[in-house]
Amino acid sequence: MNKIIIGNLKMNTIASEFKVYAMSLATKTKNSKNEIVICPPFTHLTTAKEFLSGSKVKIGAQNIFDEEKGAYTGEISANMIKDAGATYVIIGHSDRRNKFKETDKFINRKIKSALANGLKVVLCVGENWQTRQNKQEYDFVRKQIDDDLKGIYENELESVLIAYEPIWAISTNKTAENRNISKKDINKMVDVIRKEIETQYSTKASEQIKVLYGGSVDLNNYKKILSNEFVDGAIIGGASLNVDNFSVIARETY
Ligand code: PGA
Repeated sequence: MNKIIIGNLKMNTIASEFKVYAMSLATKTKNSKNEIVICPPFTHLTTAKEFLSGSKVKIGAQNIFDEEKGAYTGEISANMIKDAGATYVIIGHSDRRNKFKETDKFINRKIKSALANGLKVVLCVGENWQTRQNKQEYDFVRKQIDDDLKGIYENELESVLIAYEPIWAISTNKTAENRNISKKDINKMVDVIRKEIETQYSTKASEQIKVLYGGSVDLNNYKKILSNEFVDGAIIGGASLNVDNFSVIARETY
């Protein structure tokens, strides 16, 4: 089954490093059947466009602001990233929610702006360890989905992918203390997400929406995670920094 493999480079690489990365990724994945998306820092989007056009690899941005233009010093809009070559954008990543205090209302406005500009949205949701300990994880993620997708029409959902990224499983260091996520944990939450889409939209929408997993996916566990038929793909942070490792995951047949 073809999967969607998204690399999130976060705030890493300078343009010269990314140029080498992009050329290598294009070559190494040319026979892949998967949908591959790389999300570099904003400053490398045009480099990505230059070195990835004609390849299998699509380009994504890691964030946008919700307004089109104006006095928003330091911000970047949906049409700017589109113009720079992005067709995807990650919205609501836990780094943004936690470190930059982004609210569901703000995330909802950003999704609307991205969709209005014809971008595909990778909406990240997921609970922290405390919420899971309190057994509130399903309600928490349901509410994120409801709030983040408020006012989004069913036909627009075609351009929305949902990435379940439990905060406690993001970045390998944090999976210490025996907090490794199991296939059962992933499948249960994917099911909860689909059921919520069914409640808010329709059975058809719940069957069609792509649900990805993210959080410490690496060379050791990717086969187990991606061979799972319930999971449509993965968003990969740390392990995407090494182009060889990311390419192995991106070109595999699942
Ligand atoms: P990780 O990051 O693969 O390093 O856990 C995933 C993400 O933050 O999207």
